[in-house]
Amino acid sequence: MTATVPLDTHLATLRALVEQSLTRVLDRLAPPSAIADPLRYALLGPGKRLRPCLTLTTAETVGQRHGLSAADARALALPAACAVEMIHTYSLVHDDLPAMDDDALRRGRPTTHIVHGEGLAILAGDGLLTDAFTVLASAPSPAVDAGAPVAPADRRLHAVRVLADAAGSRGMVGGQAIDLAAVGRAGTATLDAAALTDMHARKTGALIRAASTLGAIIVGGTAAEIDAIDQYATDLGLAFQIVDDILDVEGSAADLGKTAGKDAAAGKPTFPALYGLETSRRMAADCLARATSVLDRAGLGGPLQDIAAWSLTRRA
Ligand code: IPE
Ligand code: IPE
Ligand code: MG
Ligand code: MG
Ligand code: MG
Repeated sequence: MTATVPLDTHLATLRALVEQSLTRVLDRLAPPSAIADPLRYALLGPGKRLRPCLTLTTAETVGQRHGLSAADARALALPAACAVEMIHTYSLVHDDLPAMDDDALRRGRPTTHIVHGEGLAILAGDGLLTDAFTVLASAPSPAVDAGAPVAPADRRLHAVRVLADAAGSRGMVGGQAIDLAAVGRAGTATLDAAALTDMHARKTGALIRAASTLGAIIVGGTAAEIDAIDQYATDLGLAFQIVDDILDVEGSAADLGKTAGKDAAAGKPTFPALYGLETSRRMAADCLARATSVLDRAGLGGPLQDIAAWSLTRRA
């Protein structure tokens, strides 16, 4: 377990593991080069890898209570971690398209559609979404080396259902649709506090919840453990998007690796637009306090709490 390892070191180790594994996935799936190039460009760009780090850290934290070593917990959860990052990356590629947020900068580089064109960016997103389920459901998964431990089929099926639900029309896609419908009509007249929270819970929270609970599901966590992780991640997901909204106001493109000030320019409903920066910061801090205390109560504190705290203070 990594409770005594500084968070930066812990995250750097997990990021390296995930990036090596994502590269392996693309090599093993070996799609035609016409789509391989945009897939590689989108997926291997320098993201924070928060979601797969959550999957792996949850797997370690819950797995420890079930007698698993950190290494075995990570190996079991790596396919799920990669699947989550593939779906997250697809959501970014599509989010940046001219028909959506129309962004030219992502992860410090030109967006996928700027480099490869809109058609291939759409297809790269489609490919990442679909391939994610190949990676999650296959045993052995293309994400891991031959001989790595494999999660039992019932856990993989449970994980497929949770991830599909989070990414689908009730989850991320639904939230993105609400966002799209509200563009240019920011303010209480269109989205009140409850509606804004609902949009954030779907467009960002759903995948962060799935990322976290998948780690618990894959290592055989109990219903109570999965529920505690889900409650933690619900608050973390909301805090993460509130901070994303704040950074859009306060951050710079150099720090963020994406264009700043886009939300106000597009008239997006955001927490700062509705509440102002100070109240938004306080609301994110309240989420963090709830996320931390649910883990304490469940005896799951440690690195997951550190990740939540980092999500709040991050500058990118
Ligand atoms: C950006 O997510 C999109 C949101 C849901 C806020 P991240 O801030 O995790 O982006 P990357 O993966 O590090 O690029
Ligand atoms: C995106 O929210 C949520 C997704 C599902 C991708 P934003 O549109 O605020 O994300 P950024 O700021 O472009 O990363
Ligand atoms: Mg968006
Ligand atoms: Mg966007
Ligand atoms: Mg944003």
